[in-house]
Amino acid sequence: MFHHSVTQLFPLPAAERPLLGLYLGHQLRQLVRPTGRAFVYSNYITSLDGRIAVPHPEKPGLTVPKQVANDRDWRLFQELAAQADVIITSGRYLRDYADGRAQEILQVADDPRFADLLAWRLDHGLPPLPDLAVISGSLDFPVPAALTEGQRRVVVFTVESADKTRRAALEKQTGQVFVAGAEDVQGALLVDKLTELGYQTVYNATGPKVLHLLLADDVLDRLYLTFAHRILGGDPFATIVDGPLLTPPIGMTLQALYLDPHALEGAGQLFTAYQRLRPAL
Ligand SMILES: NC(=O)c1ccc[n+]([C@@H]2O[C@H](COP(=O)([O-])OP(=O)(O)OC[C@H]3O[C@@H](n4cnc5c(N)ncnc54)[C@H](OP(=O)(O)O)[C@@H]3O)[C@@H](O)[C@H]2O)c1
Repeated sequence: MFHHSVTQLFPLPAAERPLLGLYLGHQLRQLVRPTGRAFVYSNYITSLDGRIAVPHPEKPGLTVPKQVANDRDWRLFQELAAQADVIITSGRYLRDYADGRAQEILQVADDPRFADLLAWRLDHGLPPLPDLAVISGSLDFPVPAALTEGQRRVVVFTVESADKTRRAALEKQTGQVFVAGAEDVQGALLVDKLTELGYQTVYNATGPKVLHLLLADDVLDRLYLTFAHRILGGDPFATIVDGPLLTPPIGMTLQALYLDPHALEGAGQLFTAYQRLRPAL
């Protein structure tokens, strides 16, 4: 499992690198600034035609395309999640979790392939699982007991216009519901609050609307993109970002580029990391 290496194409010189440990080697926890905001990063797998989600084969709504999802990318997703203090998720994820189509985001407890990531977290003085920050305007989701077991904290970020009864119920269950915007959760308010709560590394595992609110307030520090070498077509679909034109556009510089020729029956994929350059980093 995961025997093959990948080829690092950037930075040069090109070199073979083991897949295992590739993103742990990015040492995201060390990029945290001593003062200032938490380090925020996100990750998507996309088809060559830009699809991160296509219609679910049996249920309403979209899902990550099975045609591009693969174990090698999933391993790197897990390595990113393992480095987080808190994972941003959404009302949509908790609804999917409740109807059985979503799983725990960091799978260190459920999947023996990721036992080393559990050991890595414990070695770094971290709890087994990152906390969860749930973004939702509707507040229309249950918080399953499985997600709040142990010392794990679930914090909810919502908007002023959210349903007051739902808000009170969630406050009772999770203890922490924050208003971070009038009609939309605002990225800067969200990340400032997460920083104030003591989180230093924040992994966004949600889709295009939440990525937009992070980009609109320029609080995303790093973007990981896997380009799966398949073209899917089809409609409807989701791409990495959804929302009004970003003005000015968000420029990101290439941090790392790897070719993985072994995935997807030889079609392969590119693993890329982009960094938002800021003077303080
Ligand atoms: N290929 C990949 O790597 C990848 C990665 C992530 C997601 N995806 C897929 O992409 C699709 C869409 O993902 P998603 O549903 O997580 O994405 P999303 O479009 O970012 O939105 C998720 C939820 O977040 C809440 N939300 C978003 N923006 C908000 C705002 N400004 N204020 C308050 N709440 C807000 C809403 O919750 P409420 O409805 O509760 O208000 C919304 O349903 C899914 O099929 C997912 O599986 C693919």
